[in-house]
Amino acid sequence: MTDPAATPELFTWEFATDPYPAYAWLREHAPVHRTTLPSGVEAWLVTRYADAREALADPRLSKNPVHHAESPGARGKTGIPGERSADLMTHLLNIDPPDHTRLRRLVSKAFTPRRVAGFGERVQQLTDRFVDGFAARGEADLIHEFAFPLPIYAICDLLGVPAEDQDDFRDWAGMMIRHGGGPRGGVARSVKRMRAYLVELIHRKRAEPAAAGGADGGAPDDLISGLIRASDHGEHLTENEAAAMAFILLFAGFETTVNLIGNGMHTLLTHPGPRAELQASLAAGETALLETAVEELLRHDGPVELATWRYATTALTVGGQPIAAGDPVLVVLAAADRDPARFSAPDSVNLARADNPHLGYGHGIHYCLGAPLARLEARTALATLLTRLPDLRLAADPGDLRWRGGLIMRGLRTLPVAFTPEA
Ligand code: HEM
Repeated sequence: MTDPAATPELFTWEFATDPYPAYAWLREHAPVHRTTLPSGVEAWLVTRYADAREALADPRLSKNPVHHAESPGARGKTGIPGERSADLMTHLLNIDPPDHTRLRRLVSKAFTPRRVAGFGERVQQLTDRFVDGFAARGEADLIHEFAFPLPIYAICDLLGVPAEDQDDFRDWAGMMIRHGGGPRGGVARSVKRMRAYLVELIHRKRAEPAAAGGADGGAPDDLISGLIRASDHGEHLTENEAAAMAFILLFAGFETTVNLIGNGMHTLLTHPGPRAELQASLAAGETALLETAVEELLRHDGPVELATWRYATTALTVGGQPIAAGDPVLVVLAAADRDPARFSAPDSVNLARADNPHLGYGHGIHYCLGAPLARLEARTALATLLTRLPDLRLAADPGDLRWRGGLIMRGLRTLPVAFTPEA
């Protein structure tokens, strides 16, 4: 039993600003720690790398909230408001095999690494468009003007949401990110509108694929059309499943990427040595350091903290700690990825780190489906900012920056920067 008096306070303002000292304490003294979350739910926090990796791949730890002892059959825990609605429950992050296997196989046929690779030019165009918006001004808020819009327009384009409707998605997503995952009025309304829109779009694309074309006004080869067409042994996604899939792609791929870009730029701006190395390598036209840098930034200060719910389907032990059937288990990726038992000098930023099997994208059958897209966006975003605005600097005291105090995502509210205006 750990001494409760010595246990650091979690979920405070200080914790939101810098949770890493608390994670170090937990790894050392209470690696599988039972705590009460701000929502009142009790859960086990798993903070050591080896335990985290094992737990993520353990089939006895289910993603399906029906296994939560406290509220059988009801609670969604991915933070998606309105998730209790049966229509949204069928997404990948809330289900286990065999349903998960079937849906993941179908979506993987449409959301291929090749599709993402072919999207590189479009991501570069979008990135340049957002930088154009502030480059002549000499100052900007990199969250609102850059990290926030880029992923939402990128995923809308990829899905095939027509250009004229994409601003609505930006507004709905803005509502979610500002007000967090709680089932509050405005957020729940935004989710409802987004879902209704996706159901309608899928219906239109199914009825008339070419007429309801993609962002370029006609191409039917967008991801939603791919989801509609995808089949496996004669099986297709139903319209509802395709809508839930499009929704989870938007939801899982949005705030995560905002924060990968935001946290990553924050780390670079506060670590001049590594930043200068990366800038020199980009100026020399190299990409190898950029690739390892994005992985290191994700390991060092990734966006996903506790959004990895699991429920024990049976009594089991994790890291030697007995866990009862029905107990929720949260794998703390941000803590595991700073474990000195796995990473040398885990608190430093080594952009060339070669041995870096971080858990930032999860592990096992729920490993992030969008990782290739997230990597593409992050690499493009960081390279473009550092190349076009070479003297980019933080325009606030690092101690004054405000972090969102969610326990699902870790990210900045604003990231004010200054630079020599582009001519
Ligand atoms: C799953 C992280 C971007 C779609 C996951 C998981 C993590 C993660 C940790 C596993 C959760 C668990 O095991 O409980 C991230 C990070 C991202 C990112 C750090 C960006 C920096 C994206 C993007 C998309 C996406 C861009 C899609 C466009 C998904 C989906 C799943 C998932 C669909 C569920 C996969 C499954 O359950 O089989 N992500 N993600 N993610 N992610 Fe991402």
